[in-house]
Amino acid sequence: MKIAIIGTGYVGLVTGTCLAEAGHEVVCVDCDAEKIAMLEAGGMPIYEPGLEELVRGNRDAGRLRFTTSTPEAVHASQIVFIAVPTPPLPDGSVDLSFIERVAREVAANLTGYRIVVDKSTVPVRTGQKVAETIKRYCRTPVEFDVVSNPEFLREGSAVEDFLRPDRIVVGVSSPRPVSAMRQVYAPFDAPIVVTDIQSAELIKHAANSFLALKISYINALSVICEASHADVQDVANGIGMDRRIGRQFLDASLGFGGSCFPKDLSAFIKIAEQLGYDFALLREVQRINAQQLDRFFRKIVDTLWVIKDKQIGILGLAFKENTDDVRMSPAIELCRRLQAEGARLRVHDPKAMDKARALLPDVTYVAHQDDVAEGCDALVLATEWSQFKQLDLAKACRVMTCPILFDGRNLFDKNEMEHLGFIYKSIGR
Ligand code: UGA
Repeated sequence: MKIAIIGTGYVGLVTGTCLAEAGHEVVCVDCDAEKIAMLEAGGMPIYEPGLEELVRGNRDAGRLRFTTSTPEAVHASQIVFIAVPTPPLPDGSVDLSFIERVAREVAANLTGYRIVVDKSTVPVRTGQKVAETIKRYCRTPVEFDVVSNPEFLREGSAVEDFLRPDRIVVGVSSPRPVSAMRQVYAPFDAPIVVTDIQSAELIKHAANSFLALKISYINALSVICEASHADVQDVANGIGMDRRIGRQFLDASLGFGGSCFPKDLSAFIKIAEQLGYDFALLREVQRINAQQLDRFFRKIVDTLWVIKDKQIGILGLAFKENTDDVRMSPAIELCRRLQAEGARLRVHDPKAMDKARALLPDVTYVAHQDDVAEGCDALVLATEWSQFKQLDLAKACRVMTCPILFDGRNLFDKNEMEHLGFIYKSIGR
């Protein structure tokens, strides 16, 4: 099928590329001419495992192209996906101005029946507003359908998540667009859940909030585990083996971050409020998450006693592994707090150092992970990159002024670390 993707950010680029990989003819649009030129020249604006190869392969095969022209893309396509940002406003609600602008642009360029699919994460009832806007701004009366098709991609495994999804959600207000949407997703081996538009929109916020709730639950348990000398990993394994609960998203940490969970939680709380419900449960999820970072920071302060002039090595800056994304990263927030107390930081991240430079200018960026510990009073593991398991920790222990290791992701084995000579502090163990 001929598909346009309006917005070539993280979601748009992965969606467009994977739909091209599935055999569709895709054009990705973005108003950022520099980004489009970069993609046309073979460059990549983000790091995502496997994406670069797929972009190259599909561009070379003529199934994937890039443009700054929305009119051209709308004319050339049967289905128009909207994948523009929906950033948070200061009060936690969602800024829908990008969505509204795209709806107007699409309307102005409609010459025949099109299916307009919302991929961006939006509050419930946005689809209705998009349909009203398109109707209002159409130059001539043209038929169209609006569909809600939320994405469930995780950064760091987005390509894999798109190509092998658990389910595909398609929200419609009439049966007409369903067969075309089934055709779009026919190459993917996944159940298609067809709902009304509002339910599809809610599924996205409900899923992200539930996953965040799961993390806050295990983080709250980590506090109980520490106080009672239990081990949160054993508890997570024990409860996670119950298939009704599941082991995923039960890894205690210094808190969740990124561009989705914090924003979507605030948005969902606001949406509920506007619908007359106080979602206190989700406010508690936020509170536990904020406390988790506070508690980890306090653990460092309590152990080192004085932070001023201490040299601290930080392993990991991204909000999670396999991404260069540092938005709302707990690692960055921790660095800022340590700096505010007067610490000097030596930092390393396998992919995120370039993006971190703007947020953390006054730290020493260390090219190799094994060199971070040099002369440090403490080492902090802040992101769960699996390559940190290959760290030369015996060397780290030797070259540190004082061998203290704070593990914010429970990546290492406590006994092994103590055997190596570290004073080892982790989460809930
Ligand atoms: C999340 C959802 O998992 C996706 O399904 C969704 O599509 C996406 O948001 C979105 O709305 O676009 P993402 O933010 O990329 O994906 O990353 P996650 O893997 O969900 O991790 C979020 C945060 O939770 C990270 O900071 C991670 O380190 C943390 N986390 C995750 C934990 O602290 N413990 C866990 O057990 C799992």
